[in-house]
Amino acid sequence: MPIFFNKKTREFHLQAKNVSYIFTVLENNQLGHIYYGRKLTHRKSFSHLYTIQKKTYTAAVFDDDLTFSLDTIKQEFPSYGTTDFREPAFQILQENGSRITQFQYNGHRIFPGKIKLDGLPATYAEQEREATTLEISLHDHLMDAEIILQYTVFEQFNAIARNAKYINHGKENLILTRAMSASVDFFDADFEMIHLSGSWGRERYVITRKLAPGIQSISSTRGTASGTGHNPFLALKRPGTNEHQGEVYGFSLVYSGNFLAQVEVDPYDVARVSIGINPFDFQWLLESKQSFQTPEVVFVYSDQGMNGMSQVYHSLYRTRLAKGIWRDKERPVLINNWEATYFNFNEEKIIEIARVSKELGIELFVLDDGWFGQRNNAKTSLGDWVVNKQKLPNGIAGLAKKINQLGLYFGLWFEPEMVSKNSLLYKKHPDWIIQVPNRKPSQGRNQYVLDFSRKEVVDYIYYSMVKILGTAPISYIKWDMNRYMTEIGSVNLPANRQREVAHRYILGVYNLYERLTSEFPDILFESCAGGGARFDPGMLYYAPQTWTSDTTDAIERLKIQYGTSMVYPLSSMSAHVTAVPNHQVGRITSMETRANAAYFGIFGYELDVTKMSLEEKEKIKKQIAFYKENRGLFQKGTFFRLQSPFEKDGNVTSWIVVSEDQKEAAACRYQILGKPNARYERLVLKGLRKDYKYKIEGIPCFFYGDELMNAGIYLDNVVLAGKLQYCDFTSQIFKLSYFE
Ligand code: DGJ
Repeated sequence: MPIFFNKKTREFHLQAKNVSYIFTVLENNQLGHIYYGRKLTHRKSFSHLYTIQKKTYTAAVFDDDLTFSLDTIKQEFPSYGTTDFREPAFQILQENGSRITQFQYNGHRIFPGKIKLDGLPATYAEQEREATTLEISLHDHLMDAEIILQYTVFEQFNAIARNAKYINHGKENLILTRAMSASVDFFDADFEMIHLSGSWGRERYVITRKLAPGIQSISSTRGTASGTGHNPFLALKRPGTNEHQGEVYGFSLVYSGNFLAQVEVDPYDVARVSIGINPFDFQWLLESKQSFQTPEVVFVYSDQGMNGMSQVYHSLYRTRLAKGIWRDKERPVLINNWEATYFNFNEEKIIEIARVSKELGIELFVLDDGWFGQRNNAKTSLGDWVVNKQKLPNGIAGLAKKINQLGLYFGLWFEPEMVSKNSLLYKKHPDWIIQVPNRKPSQGRNQYVLDFSRKEVVDYIYYSMVKILGTAPISYIKWDMNRYMTEIGSVNLPANRQREVAHRYILGVYNLYERLTSEFPDILFESCAGGGARFDPGMLYYAPQTWTSDTTDAIERLKIQYGTSMVYPLSSMSAHVTAVPNHQVGRITSMETRANAAYFGIFGYELDVTKMSLEEKEKIKKQIAFYKENRGLFQKGTFFRLQSPFEKDGNVTSWIVVSEDQKEAAACRYQILGKPNARYERLVLKGLRKDYKYKIEGIPCFFYGDELMNAGIYLDNVVLAGKLQYCDFTSQIFKLSYFE
C-alpha cells in the first residue's frame, strides 16, 4: 500500500518505489509538512522528524503557546494571514473584505486508482492498481468552504501527482485571488533551481541558478499559452547533482496557460515551492455551491541525477498522460510543405512533392498553412475554414484522396483559436474576439484571439472543423496557435468575472481538443504554437506530439531538444530535416547532421524534395529506412543526456537512447566547431547492460557494456579514422546491437 495513515499521530506517508512524502495534521488542525525525499521505511510515527523552531520575534497561533507559529513550521498547503508571512498557496476574498481563512483537517479517504479532473488534462491510471489516491478535505467553518487536496501516488513510476479543488458550500460569494495547485516546504535552501526558458526559435534552454533569499520565479502572462519565455516546470537540485548522479526534485504543471512556479527562501533558509495558475491578473468568483478545480502538478524526486528525473517524466508522460491510439503506435515519418512552399502552392505542386516523398519512403503528407479562404499570406482568412478552390480545385477531400492513392496518409494544418481581421468570420462576429470595451484590440501576426471562453465560439469552430474532418480522409492534424493574448476580456462575462477569461479560454481549448480527439480517435494530433510555445504537459494529454521549435537548424536544435528532454519524451518532440542554408539561421550543415539531430524525436522532413539531387534523395531514402528500422527505439527507448550544450564551452552535445531490454541503443555525438590538432575525445555511454556484448555498426570489434559505460568509445583511432570528425557541425551516430 503506497499511502499510509497513522490515526494516532494523524500522519500521512506517501511512498513510491524510491520516494517518501510525509505530512501531518498539526495541533491547530492545519497541515504541516514533515519530509519529502529518498524513500523511508514506513514506521508508526515520524513525529520525531517534525521540526518547530522557536523564534521569539514572530506571531503565535495559540495565546498560551508562543512557540507555535505557522511562520516557523513547514506547511503542506499554506494559508494567508494567520502567522505565516510567506506567500500562501491560496487566498480567498470574502464579502466583508476579509482575506483570512482557516482551513482545518476535516477527514480523508484513500482509494485505488485516480479520478479524472473535470475539464482539465491530467495523468491517469490505466488500471486501478497502478495508482493510489489520497483525498484530504480541509474545511473553513466561518465561510463553509472546503479545499480538497488530492495526492496520487504512481508507485512504479515513482511520481506523485497533486491538485487542489476549492468548493464554496456557504451562502456568500467568495473570490479566489490565488489558487495554486500545490506547495511544499523544504528543510533548507541549498539548491540550484533549474528551469527551461527562452524565446521564439530558441525554446527551453536550460537555466541554472542558485537559490537566494527571497522569491525567485518563472511564469507566463501570455494567456493563450504556457509560452516560450518559460516552461511550466522547475526543478531543485543539490549543488553536486549532475545528469547522472545526485538528488533533484522536479515540479511540472499540466497546464497550457498563465502559470507561476516560484521558490521562496525565507529568513531561516526554508525553501517553499509553489506552482499553479498565475495569480497575477487572475481572480475567480466562487458563488454558492460552485467549485474550482486547479490543474495538476507532477512531483518527481530522483537520486539518480537529472536523467533519473527526466526518465520518470518521460515514461509517465508517454504512457499515462498522452492518450488515444497513437500513444503506443509507432509514429509515421512525415513531410510538411511549410518550408518547401510557404503559402505558395497549388494541387499540382503538392501532388508532386507527395509523389517524390512516397518514393523516398515517407508515410504521411502534411499540408500546412494556406489552404483555406484567401490565405496567400499571413494577413487573412483565419476563421474561414473553407478550402481555397483556386489552389485546390478538388477540395481537401479530393486532394487527400489523391495523396492516399499515392500511398501516403494525409494531414492538415489548422489554427482553430484565431481569426484574421480580414476574414468573413470577423466581419460577421466582431464581438467574438478577446477584447475589452472601448479599447483597440492589438493584432498579432495580423490576427485576433477568438474568445474561447464562450461556448458558442468553441462550438462554431468545432462544427467548421468537423465539416472538413468528417468528409475527407484526414489522418493527422497540426493544431497551430500563433499569438499571445492582449487586452484580455470577454464581452460575454460580467465585470467581476473578467479576470477569469484567460483560464476560461484555456478550458475552451481543452474542451475543443477533448471533443475532436474523442470524435476522431484515429487522427494523430500534433500541437504547435509558433514553434514550441505550447510544449507543455497539458497539450501532451490530447496531442502526443508537439512541434518543438520553428528553428529547424540541426545545431540550434541541439540546445532546444536537450532542454526539452528535461521533462518531455522523445516521442513528443517533432523534429524535421530541412533545407540548407537553413531558413532561420542561414547555416549550412550536412544532410547527415540534420538527420542525426532529427532522429532523436519524431522524425520528418520539411523541404522541397522535388528539387533534390539524386544523391541527396539516395541519402534521404537511407535515413528514412534507418529511422523506420529503429523507430521503436527512438520513440520508446530510455533516453540519457550525456554531454550538455549548456556546459563547458558547449561545443559538444551527446546523448543515447536505449531499448527497454537494453539490447539496442543509438548514441550520437555532435560537434559544433572543429578544432585543429584537437585533444583526444571519447564518448562514454550510459544505460547499457554491463555484461552484454555489443556490436556497433561500422566498427570492426565488439564492446562489453561496462567498457562502453566506463572507458567509452575512443573516437579518434578506433572509429573515425579517415573521416572528417573534427570539422564544423559534424556528428556521428553509433547504432549498438546486442551480440550473442
Ligand atoms: C507557425 C508554425 O510553427 C509553423 O510550423 C507553420 O505552421 C506556420 N505557423 C504557419 O503559419
